[in-house]
Amino acid sequence: FSAFLTDSFGRQHNYLRISLTEKCNLRCQYCMPEEGVQLTPKSELLTAQEIITLARLFVKEGVEKIRLTGGEPLIRPDVVDIVGQLYKLEGLKTIAVTTNGINLTRLLPRLKEAGLNAINVSLDTLVPAKFEFIVRRKGFHKVMEGIHKATELGYRPVKVNCVVMRGFNEDELLGFVDFTKDLPLDVRFIEYMPFDGNKWNFKKMVSYKEMLDTIKQRWPELEKLTCETSSTAKSYKVPHFQGQISFITSMSEHFCGSCNRLRITADGSLKVCLFGNSEVSLRDHLRSGASEEELVQIIGAAVGRKKKQHAGMFNISQMKNRPMILIEPVLMSF
Ligand code: GTP
Ligand code: 5AD
Ligand code: SF4
Repeated sequence: FSAFLTDSFGRQHNYLRISLTEKCNLRCQYCMPEEGVQLTPKSELLTAQEIITLARLFVKEGVEKIRLTGGEPLIRPDVVDIVGQLYKLEGLKTIAVTTNGINLTRLLPRLKEAGLNAINVSLDTLVPAKFEFIVRRKGFHKVMEGIHKATELGYRPVKVNCVVMRGFNEDELLGFVDFTKDLPLDVRFIEYMPFDGNKWNFKKMVSYKEMLDTIKQRWPELEKLTCETSSTAKSYKVPHFQGQISFITSMSEHFCGSCNRLRITADGSLKVCLFGNSEVSLRDHLRSGASEEELVQIIGAAVGRKKKQHAGMFNISQMKNRPMILIEPVLMSF
């Protein structure tokens, strides 16, 4: 494995997340700070060609999985083309997307044909009125249709990301578990994380332990499944249910020790940690004509500076970072 993508703690980064856009077709109250976010001018965002150039370089150095994120990645007009070009990169095993699901039904056949192999959909409530309240738009049924369509087209499992927030949806845990009864889903309950402008507070976070207790009261026979070590999720299953559930414990039990990811923001910055604020603009180096070797050196140096773990939940809630919409999609304060 490439020395450039291995950090000083021996972590090998074979998973790259690329944000395709900062824009979104929903307006989740909890994603963007109340005053909104300043969008980067289009000319400063990576072009499809630049994305592919960078992706090719990372894949050459050992990246095996690329996830496209946003904002909402499926509103980028050239998303199908980008997937198609990524598919041609030798050595890349998985092309995944994390989406809010609004455009999924419409785009899925083309995305599948272009080579997309994994889909995560964000959905935080199963109650249409609550959905409209939190995303400030209509679209619940489109998202549901998208999830069903993905299962019909053979995606296994279709992952559903549910950020659990006290006072909003902590009463829907059992409903989401039931959602896995007859569908090949992996519903992932995510601990609510702090980002700039999202008014995170400790009381709104529901911990893994608390969620598990609630679910075990109803389903004492819940089985723990074994997961890949680099996985962000701890998985369980109700026996005889088609799907499974998982917990993403970014706050209460961080998984930094086995972190294998790097991310590139839509404006072309490399972020070696979701919670880190040190960034290096690959776009600027690319546009000033850096050679492939120079880029690899720059990436290697940034990976080499990666910290052992994030600063802990209280510290990261105080820290300067981007709002999530400018890193990736979905969920902020409410
Ligand atoms: P898979 O590749 O399917 O395992 O998905 P994923 O969990 O990597 O990606 P997804 O986009 O579905 O993100 C779901 C949640 O994972 C996010 O809300 C975060 O809570 C968490 N997550 C993703 N990437 C990171 C990361 O680099 N660090 C930490 N701490 N959490 C992350
Ligand atoms: N806390 C936890 N998860 C979040 N996401 C977005 N914002 C937050 C937050 N503050 C999740 C969404 C999306 C994934 C990429 O990040 O569920 O699916
Ligand atoms: Fe869009 Fe996701 Fe933010 Fe909602 S939370 S506005 S779906 S990026």
